Amino acid sequence: MNALRIHGPTRLAGKVRVSGSKNTALPVLFAALLFDDEIRYENVPRLWDIETTLQMVESMGASFTWNKETGQVSLFPTVKSKVAPYEWVKRMRAGILALGPLVARYGEAKVSLPGGCAIGARPVNFHLDAMKQMGIQVGVEQGYIIASVPSKIRGAEIVFPQVTVTGTENLLFVACLADGNTVLKNAAQEPEVIALGNFLQLCGAKIDGLGSSTLTIHGGKLHPPKMPYSVPPDRIETGTWIAAAAVTKSEIEIQACNPLELTSVLSAYREMGLKIEEGKDFLKISAPQSLRPISLSTSPYPGFPTDMQAQMLSTACFAQGTSHITETIFENRFMHVAELQRLGAKIEVNGNTATVTGPADLQGAPLMATDLRASASLVVAALAAHGSTKISRIYHLDRGYQRLEEKLRQLGAQIERIAE
Ligand code: EPZ
Repeated sequence: MNALRIHGPTRLAGKVRVSGSKNTALPVLFAALLFDDEIRYENVPRLWDIETTLQMVESMGASFTWNKETGQVSLFPTVKSKVAPYEWVKRMRAGILALGPLVARYGEAKVSLPGGCAIGARPVNFHLDAMKQMGIQVGVEQGYIIASVPSKIRGAEIVFPQVTVTGTENLLFVACLADGNTVLKNAAQEPEVIALGNFLQLCGAKIDGLGSSTLTIHGGKLHPPKMPYSVPPDRIETGTWIAAAAVTKSEIEIQACNPLELTSVLSAYREMGLKIEEGKDFLKISAPQSLRPISLSTSPYPGFPTDMQAQMLSTACFAQGTSHITETIFENRFMHVAELQRLGAKIEVNGNTATVTGPADLQGAPLMATDLRASASLVVAALAAHGSTKISRIYHLDRGYQRLEEKLRQLGAQIERIAE
């Protein structure tokens, strides 16, 4: 097992380049299962979740090449087995994204139920209920979703009871090859959903309404994209760099990012006192000597992203005053609070609201990562804490951040990866 050792407080300076978006790369890689032709990708981030995805489809009969230095992936996606086994899906819940393409392309699928994770139960009932409305037979046996198409997939009007990102993505796959039109209401508007929709449009899909909460898909045929697909930048990695600059009172430039996808995050950090210059594909961040507190709630896009909640909570520990952070998407996404309290953070959780009293003079301590974004929030806090912090179980971090410690060292952080 690896750990990160971070020595603080430190000042950051310089430029950092954002990698490709994990939560865009995953659905567009699974989209290859709709085809039998070679599908090529660029700017694929070097992450464990990408490794898991490629090995999962390889175990089903596909094959791939992956140049981890250049981020180029070639997928030869024809599969023999339509089974996405538990051993893979338990490592990465996004394995549920194999369900839509397999059912749409082959008319059958057996995909392990993802099961819960540290941040919540993570059910997939909205995915399955919607598929049933489209003529797909769906059952659950011994922890597996068994799906089949008795006659044909037919378009339908679907209303999601709650916004679901991968639910919207799975139904986009199915609707593209359905007979007739499908309307998805209360659909997710996340940039990753728009990116998947754009990818499918490059494959001939007729999708209206991308970026709104109502998507209309005209079922038909698809063809492989004519050009390699370049994965857009990761908006949550970008937000994590803003949090790191905020707590270390630094000036940094974030390159190869898309500020337009971060409006709610930029306004929150500006409210705390950061000066942020926006370019077409960069952000120049200048953090103040003292941060103002903030009160916010997470919500589906374009609201403040739940995947930035932990990093914002770490930031609030250093603000002058009391902040209130409310988590509305997941029922257990405050696992980082107990770890931050070990550094001396003053945080009280009541229900789904964390009240943070700052500024806290955090002292380094041994910590344990519990989930992907929580581990990022611990790194952020450790950069500004006094003394040495060791964060264990950073495989959680490696699932979603490409070489974080190398990028932080380039910005001047005192951080190293150690075996433990
Ligand atoms: C996606 O997860 C992201 N993962 C998550 O990012 C992100 O936190 C989440 O969307 C919310 O933005 C990927 O894109 C791979 P949901 P997803 O379905 O699709 C409930 C990260 O850090 N729900 O939008 O699984 C669910 O329990 C990860 O990269 C049902 O009840 O999330 C949750 O409370 C963490 N039934 C809420 O809806 C369903 O069928 C939103 O979940 C589906 C969801």
